[in-house]
Amino acid sequence: MIPESFIQELLNRVDVVDVIDKSVPLKKAGANYSACCPFHNEKSPSFTVSPTKQFYHCFGCGAHGTAIGFLMEYAGLSFIEAINDLAKNVGMIVPKEDSTPQSREVDAQNKTIKLGLQETLQQAANYYKAELKNSPRAIEYLKGRGLSGVIAAKFQIGYAPAGWQNLQSVFANYENQALQTAGLVVENDQGKRYDRFRDRIMFPIHDQKGQVIGFGGRVINNEDTPKYYNSPETPLFQKGHELYGLFVARRAIRDAGRVLVVEGYMDVVALAQYGIEYAVAALGTATTPFHITKLMRQTDEIVFCFDGDNAGRTAAWRAAMNALPALTDGLKLRFLFLPKEHDPDSYVREYGKEKIEAEMQAAMPLSQYIVQHLSENNALNSQEDKVQFLNEAEPILRQITAPRFSLMLRKRIAELADVTEAEMQSLLKLPAPNRPPAKATQRQSRAPISIKKRFVLMALMRPDLVKLEHSSFAQGFNEEDLLLQVTIQAALAQPKSKPAALLHTIESQIAPRLLHDIGRELHLLDETLDFALEFEGARTQLVELAQQKQGLSMLDALKEKPFSALTIDEREMLKNLTAKKT
Ligand code: UTP
Ligand code: MN
Repeated sequence: MIPESFIQELLNRVDVVDVIDKSVPLKKAGANYSACCPFHNEKSPSFTVSPTKQFYHCFGCGAHGTAIGFLMEYAGLSFIEAINDLAKNVGMIVPKEDSTPQSREVDAQNKTIKLGLQETLQQAANYYKAELKNSPRAIEYLKGRGLSGVIAAKFQIGYAPAGWQNLQSVFANYENQALQTAGLVVENDQGKRYDRFRDRIMFPIHDQKGQVIGFGGRVINNEDTPKYYNSPETPLFQKGHELYGLFVARRAIRDAGRVLVVEGYMDVVALAQYGIEYAVAALGTATTPFHITKLMRQTDEIVFCFDGDNAGRTAAWRAAMNALPALTDGLKLRFLFLPKEHDPDSYVREYGKEKIEAEMQAAMPLSQYIVQHLSENNALNSQEDKVQFLNEAEPILRQITAPRFSLMLRKRIAELADVTEAEMQSLLKLPAPNRPPAKATQRQSRAPISIKKRFVLMALMRPDLVKLEHSSFAQGFNEEDLLLQVTIQAALAQPKSKPAALLHTIESQIAPRLLHDIGRELHLLDETLDFALEFEGARTQLVELAQQKQGLSMLDALKEKPFSALTIDEREMLKNLTAKKT
């Protein structure tokens, strides 16, 4: 545990402009600095860095954060690593006092375990790779599937020989716990250990830093089952978060401006063999929103291409549904459906790169896929059909927050169900879609923000102006009031902090979605405003809001009493309040 106060101080001392400029050269643009966004592919710069807010933000892909966030996202550092890195730059020493001896011990243990696992997995990968060279049968198999030595090397493909305890020759201590935790050995009921992967082609799975975190192993003969064995989940490996091939494909994804998501290890490798190097695979699980978000950091165009069989179709629909919460208006999501008998591997082998790339261009957009799927077994003839159609559309529409995408889909669905948009709106009680911006030049959509949020923004910009009595603006228990409260507390505690540092303080206490909104608004805030004046404006409005509320409840109370029972003052008040209301 690094003390929060240290992180604050660090964020106030480092300059996010310097930090980013080291990896992404920045150009001065007005009050800000800008560059082409390192998190997605683009030709004109929409990535901006604000020296006053100590924040970066991309108007294209929505990436944003502090210096710490940048190092985590861009350089793939962990939170602790990012802190250490930044501290080194500004000559600060990361203290450890806050942590108890126990928690320090646990940290140290975890670190040792992870390091041990990493090393163990890498050693195993080296061994499997070497064993591939010793196995004519395994080489023959890969050749038979059309893979060259170059591609095998690129993906560091290996071979786990037949036999129960080969890893004994690799690791001095076969009984080491790390071997079991890493999923390389399995223990039977009698406590006897044996290798998990035997006589299998080995596909190492890498994290974004290129470290081996797990394996997939395929049988060579097609009789043994299961066809693939995968590493179990370990402290290093969570299937729902990782994508096979992402490390190898990184560059190609940026260059192509797109990523192709497929189902299998062999699909990724075969596509690369045929010149499509920007493919990745979810690891035998459904594509998760984590996957989508991870990919959106690399590109704004995702094409799913699953097997042509029924399982593939089911997986495609699940991927579509899982993508909904992660959608943004800038994201192009499409689905390429292959003929029943094909998977991407067999397809690229038969038809080649050009054909599959041409089909990617023409692949079905998500919105069309959704509509098609919903009307697949529904003729939309009877009233009942249409009701069912709307019922099925509802949960889908609910999950989409991207304003333009949502609007277009609602229109189309209303049209097909033969109702007006207003009717559909009231029928399904959908939240009103965020209005897209009037100006076509404004790329980020913005609904006007509430006065409470506006006050929060001003408090982040000018914490020195915040006073304890401002807490009274937060009278309720909804999330905006909570946000207001924690911001005021943070501002009172650190009146000299920069916006990014304050935002970091409140981060753990508020909902991620709200935090995201505030971060974005903070970025869109005009740098040239007079913040003292804006602060005062927001404060005044909140005071008025509070008075109105109070007035209304007083009005109710006064109205309860018979007029004759009111004092002169109360009569006067009642007159004023009623006058104000009309
Ligand atoms: P496929 O059976 O489509 O695999 O399963 P594939 O890559 O086309 O295999 P080849 O072409 O026969 O070699 C797709 C993915 O599902 C997972 C694997 O991740 C596989 O790549 N899977 C499949 C398993 O985890 N276990 C299995 O037994 C089968
Ligand atoms: Mn296949």
